[in-house]
This record gives sequence, structure tokens and C-alpha cells, in this order.
Amino acid sequence: MPQRRLFVTTALPYANGSFHIGHIMEYIQADIWVRFQRMQGNEVHFVGADDAHGAPIMLKAEAEGITPEQLIKRIADERPRYLKGFHIQFDHWHSTHSDENTQLSQDIYRRLKAGGFIYSKTIEQFYDPVKGMFLADRYIKGECPNCGAKDQYGDACENCSSVYSPTDLKNAYSTLSGAKPVLKTSDHYFFRLSDPKCKDFLKEWLEKPGRLQPQVVNKAKEWLEGEGDKALADWDISRDAPYFGIPIPDAPGKYLYVWLDAPIGYLASLKAYCSKNNLDFERLLEDPTEQIHFIGKDIIYFHTLFWPAMLHFAGPPYRVPDHVYVHGFIGVSGEKMSKSRGTGIDPLRYLDIGMNPEWLRYYIAAKLNANVEDVDFNPDDFLARVNSDLIGKYVNIASRASGFLRKFFGGELKPDSSWIAEFGALETERDIREALEAREFGRAIRTAMAFADRVNQYFDAQQPWALAKKQETSYVRMDLLTACSNCIAAFNALTVWLAPIVPSTAEKARLFLGQDKPFAWDDWKIAPRQIEKYEHLMTRVDEKQLNALFDIPEPPAGAAPSPQRHAEHQQHETKKESTVSEHISIDDFSKIDLRVAKITRAEAVEGADKLVKLTLDLGGETRTVFAGVKSAYAPESLNGRLTVVVANLAPRRMRFGVSEGMVLAASGEGPGIFLIAPDSGALPGMRVK
Ligand code: 2FM
Ligand code: ZN
Repeated sequence: MPQRRLFVTTALPYANGSFHIGHIMEYIQADIWVRFQRMQGNEVHFVGADDAHGAPIMLKAEAEGITPEQLIKRIADERPRYLKGFHIQFDHWHSTHSDENTQLSQDIYRRLKAGGFIYSKTIEQFYDPVKGMFLADRYIKGECPNCGAKDQYGDACENCSSVYSPTDLKNAYSTLSGAKPVLKTSDHYFFRLSDPKCKDFLKEWLEKPGRLQPQVVNKAKEWLEGEGDKALADWDISRDAPYFGIPIPDAPGKYLYVWLDAPIGYLASLKAYCSKNNLDFERLLEDPTEQIHFIGKDIIYFHTLFWPAMLHFAGPPYRVPDHVYVHGFIGVSGEKMSKSRGTGIDPLRYLDIGMNPEWLRYYIAAKLNANVEDVDFNPDDFLARVNSDLIGKYVNIASRASGFLRKFFGGELKPDSSWIAEFGALETERDIREALEAREFGRAIRTAMAFADRVNQYFDAQQPWALAKKQETSYVRMDLLTACSNCIAAFNALTVWLAPIVPSTAEKARLFLGQDKPFAWDDWKIAPRQIEKYEHLMTRVDEKQLNALFDIPEPPAGAAPSPQRHAEHQQHETKKESTVSEHISIDDFSKIDLRVAKITRAEAVEGADKLVKLTLDLGGETRTVFAGVKSAYAPESLNGRLTVVVANLAPRRMRFGVSEGMVLAASGEGPGIFLIAPDSGALPGMRVK
């Protein structure tokens, strides 16, 4: 088979926040696929970058009193810890705020302009006269024109769900300064996405068989073929100063909209990687290179319409993507995770508490297929899969067979090739290879585990422990050697097949198997001749670790800090709480929505020593809150009591369920936790201030 050359990317994360588990899932998916391709002997160039431009990054830096460059550097400096931690091996990690990206974006812009695909038009937009900038819809709030609800965003009402435009809001204000926005005109640049030439090209691009997942083609065609007010519109690609972005050539004060330069960042990263490695960037882009983007389902629009159109009409050496592979979101125990909050599992916390990154790689792989389906992280399922599959089935083969081989044969093996037919290795290999290629990772794992089951059954049937006891005849001794050698040959095959998913475990196993060079795919059939002493390849997941991953670390009362805050909390814990904290403003205080709540039900939580599950009535609204008060209160004694709850704390998933707030309690250096209660007469739902 001729070798393939692949240029692979993952979506570029915004540079104003840390990675969350959704990013890590995508990188694990792409990394597994890339490792598999490399093992096949294909040439792969796998790059990523930070998506550094745009108003949110500019404003966040301003709020922190630093420059955008300082902000994106701080975030960039964090990245390697996550990537190394989860064994994600990009060849290069770059930034869209780079010379390469400026040069490529301006080049693409100029080509599109020369081709007649860019025009300018005067538009009217809200402007913040205090801040001196135009306002994107998300920075405008006001009263809903339909129901009058206050503090609604410029596009839709959260109260009555009506949809409108920011100019319809009553008493609109800028969320940046509070000022009343004024309408102001500005010249904007547009890309002719609705041009028939462009639409014809996109139709053909979308419909090429095998290019995109069918669900993705359908979605993109809905947009492409929309009519009336759903018709595909031209794309506004410019933003006015002040903006953190790439200047538009020959247009002072105008910048490219972040979504234009972001995907060009894929090419910028490849270009920087080429310079570093003495490769010819333009040649690398050429045929037969396949350009492949892994992305999430929320950014299909950009990657299946704007991006291919930009590339196609910019012309060679730019090439349209060969594939855009789309995945769903990851949630925890059936709950959706928000992109910005990224609640659920904090990846660094996962690593910090000593959980093995390969457990997560394995689990995510087991849940992934080639469809645009959401993935659910379920702690019990995680524990079961890792412990029963990875350890109970795969690792178990090596630990069982190696003892006999080391003890009686000095680690020397004599497999006969019968193991291939015995375990159905040829069919297994084909199925796993095809499944990995097709990103059907769950299927690859199921096939691998069915193979491991057959090997373990064979081992049991051979009864090597019985053979070992009666080795008086050379036949029996030979049977023992063959049985154990066959199992190790099968273990070697499994190790090769699982290597893209659990690379560092496979690397440890390789040393045990006496294989002297990194695995290529075909090594699955090369049975080892000599094994080293077996060292444990992987420990089991301990339930305590999952508790630590999801649970609060025992603050005095109840469900509290988010995983990120947890780290801060621990640092502060060492400090005595006897001195009162620094001043905060009244505005800071008023952000905390404290409410009187009635405990309508209090129950012990099975498996948790410290927690009580409280059902609270907040004056018509019911909440569930887990509180760490069991050492001080018998759950039944809390029924019917009034207390005070932080009502606007972000909900937090814990191992036992979601906690929707935090009840207040006092504690000191001595023993005891004392729940806060209002004076008599207070009613559920009353605000505490
Ligand atoms: O949605 C996001 O997180 C964007 N930063 C993704 C950009 S992908 C590519 F176009 F750069
Ligand atoms: Zn409304």
C-alpha cells in the first residue's frame, strides 16, 4: 500500500481559558488516530495552536490590567502540562497571534479581494460611547421587548424565549460600561458566501463521498440551501478598532474578525513547524497530502462553509480540507457540560490526584465512535471498564503467563504459530485496524477485549498451574511452555493494537516483551522470544480516587468550590482563618445571592461519611444541595429547619449527584459545625443581605 501523508489538526482553543475536559477529549481522539496512522507507516504532521484574537480576550486582559499578549502567554505556558499529562503528542503548538498567521491571513484576504469575493458596505451597529467601541450582541443587555424581563441579552429573552435584535431591546445598556449604546455607522468588509459560484463550489465539496460524516453533510446543506430569512448570507469579516486581531491590509482601523484568522492558524502552525524542521511548507500542502480537521459539533458552520470557501477561492497552494471529523460533547453522568464553564472533570485535578491518564484515554476511546454523538463520563462505568477490561482482561494475561515462563524457563518462549488460529488473531487484527481507521474506537476496543477473553479462557483451559506441578515428562513441560508462550504472543498482539490508545502502557509492555524498537503495526504477529521480569503494568482505579475527583475536600459545610477553586481552597486551608479577609466592595458582596431556605428533606448519602443530602425549598423552587455536616447533625434532625443558602453558586457535579448551591455553616479550630439559621419569621426564598 502506498504511504499516506496526513496533515492533522484539532480545533484551536481560545487563549483566554484553561483546557477543560472537552478539549482533552478531542485531543485524545485525534492523538489516537494519529498514533495509529504512524504505526501504519504513514507520514503525519499533527499540529495545534491557541486561538488568540477577538474581543473577549482583549477585554479579559483589560479587566486583569495586563496586555492581551501577557494573557495569551500565561495560558500558552499552561498548555504543555495538560498535553504531556495526557500523552497527547502534537508535533507543534503555535498561536494565531504570530507572524506566520498575520502573513497567511493577509495573503488569503488579498487573494479573495483580488478574486472579487470581498466587498465593503456601511452598516449600523450599537456603539458604547464611554468605552469607545462597537458592541457585539453579547455585550448589550436591556429589557425584553416582548415580556419586559430585565437584563436580557441582545438576541433572545431567557424569560419568554422570544428572539429579536439588539435594537429592539428597551432601555438597552452596554455590559462593559453600563452606558446607553448609540447606533453608529461603520464600513464593514464582507465575504461573498452567497455568491452562486461559492454556493456551487460548497455543494460539490460537501457532497464528495466519504469526505464528511452524513450528519454533518445534512447540517451544512440545511444552511447552504436555506431560503427566505434562512438564506445563506454574506459573511461580515471585519471588526473596528479597538480589536485584538490582524489588521486588514489597506484599511486603517479595521481588523479581520477572529473567525477568519482562526482556521488559518492551522496553516500558520504547520508553517512554523515546517520552518523548525526544515520542511517545505508549500510542498507539504500539495497533493497527495490529506488535510484533516478534528472539531466539535458546535463549530461545523465555520469548518464546512467559510473555511473551505476561503481556501478554494484563495487558490493554490491552499487546498480545501479532505475531511472534517466532527465529535459530540462530553458530559458527566448525563449532564451537559458548558463550553465556557467546562464543569465536570477538571483535567489537572485528575492528574494531580494521581489518576492514570491512560485510564481516561481508554475510557474515552471505549465511548467514541465515528458519529457526532455525545459522550457520557459515568464514574461507575469508568471504574468498571478500566478495572475489568484493561486490567482484568488485558494486563491479566501478562501477569498470569509470565510467572511460569520466568520461573521454569528463564523467560524464554517457544510459541508455535497455532495461537493465531486459536484466538482468531487475523480477523481480530483486521477488524481493529479497520475500526481505528474509521474512528470507531469503541468497536476496536470491544473486538480487542473479545480477543482477550478468548486468551484468558484458553489459559484457564490449559491449566498451566496443574501442568507446572507435573512437569516430570518433557511433553508436559513442553505443553506448559507452549500454552504460556501462546498467551504472551497474544498479549504482544493486543499490546500493539492498543498502543495508539494506551501508548505509555504499551511502551512498558514492550520492554517486558523484549522488543527492542518502538512498535509498528505489523509487529503484532512477531511473537516475543524472551520476556523480562514482569513488573506491574497498571494499577486498578480505586473508588476513592473517583470520590476525590468529584467530591469537595471537606470544607466546613457542604457543597462548595468548583474543581478549580478547590486548588485555591487547599492552599488557603493551611492559613488560619482567625484573621478576617481583605476588604471587598459592596458590589462584590451583592453578587452573592443568599436566600433563606427550608430543609424539606435531609438524608444520609450512601458511601459518603461526611455528606448529608438536603432538599431545600427556596420559596417555590426546590434544590438539592450536598452539605458536609454529617459529623454534627443526624440527617433527620434537620428536617423542617430554616437555613441560608448561596443560591447562585454554579451547580457542581459530585459523585453522588449535582449540588445546586451551598448552605452556610460556621466552624472554628475546635470541633463542631454550626448551621446558620435566620431569626423566626423569615420565609423561604427571602434574600439575605
Ligand atoms: O470554538 C472555539 O473554541 C474556537 N476557538 C475554535 C477555533 S477552530 C479553528 F478555526 F481555529
Ligand atoms: Zn421576554
